[in-house]
Amino acid sequence: MIGIFDSGVGGMTVARAIEQALPDYRLVYFGDLARTPYGSKSPDTISRYSCQNVDFLLARGARLIVVACNSAASVAAERLRATYDLPIFEVIGPAVEQAVRSSAGGRVGVIGTRATIRSGVYERLIRERRDDFQVFSAPCPLLVPLVEEGWLDKRETKMILRRYLAPLKQQQVDTLVLGCTHYPLLKELIQRRIGDRVKVIDSSRALAADLRDFLTTNPEVAQTLSHRGEGENLYYVSDVTEAAAQIARRIFGRNMELRPADDTGDQ
Ligand code: DGL
Repeated sequence: MIGIFDSGVGGMTVARAIEQALPDYRLVYFGDLARTPYGSKSPDTISRYSCQNVDFLLARGARLIVVACNSAASVAAERLRATYDLPIFEVIGPAVEQAVRSSAGGRVGVIGTRATIRSGVYERLIRERRDDFQVFSAPCPLLVPLVEEGWLDKRETKMILRRYLAPLKQQQVDTLVLGCTHYPLLKELIQRRIGDRVKVIDSSRALAADLRDFLTTNPEVAQTLSHRGEGENLYYVSDVTEAAAQIARRIFGRNMELRPADDTGDQ
């Protein structure tokens, strides 16, 4: 199976893109709702949780891992690659590629959680590819709770977005990376606020396309993955809540069965 993990249900934006791009493959998802948010935690804690999440997915048959959480990808991807001998995909690389390709003026904005922005990973990777580019980053810690409350079109959300995006607007960024699982749900508002000229990047589809290409060119890996005919996709969470079910419904446009993953524990 393709194993996907996130700190909660926001990563389902990535799972959905993978379901659409690779409808024949089976997915197993884990959302660590009991310990969310990751974005305000230390790199050590996020890395430890990430390893536990991968162990959980491996125990359920995953043979390839997708880190859907930006906060986890930004601080734990290296450790995961060093620890596990299996293909590990994450959301940051494809977003960086897209940003570098789409920015005409070399002024890229990045928004994310505190952990992601503090890691400096987007700046580093963008400037490794284009050292003539300037990267302007802004942590937006209030956006995750607003999305989780379903405040997708409220006046308060617009006001907070205006405040967060003002410095990036002032810097006249021409590209803006949505460096967090939850922000695609605010994409329209963000686009309106930052202006039509700015290319707003959500990496989930690019990641799904990379994964599809990888499986086509690596049939020996594709062979180890189970297919939809062998069972349904499994969506586990470490805490089942009504709010999570609602977000999942909004992301997929259908009712989702969220399975309790009560055997994850603190390994
Ligand atoms: N999944 C996290 C991310 O993409 C957002 C939620 C959290 O802070 O845990 O950074």
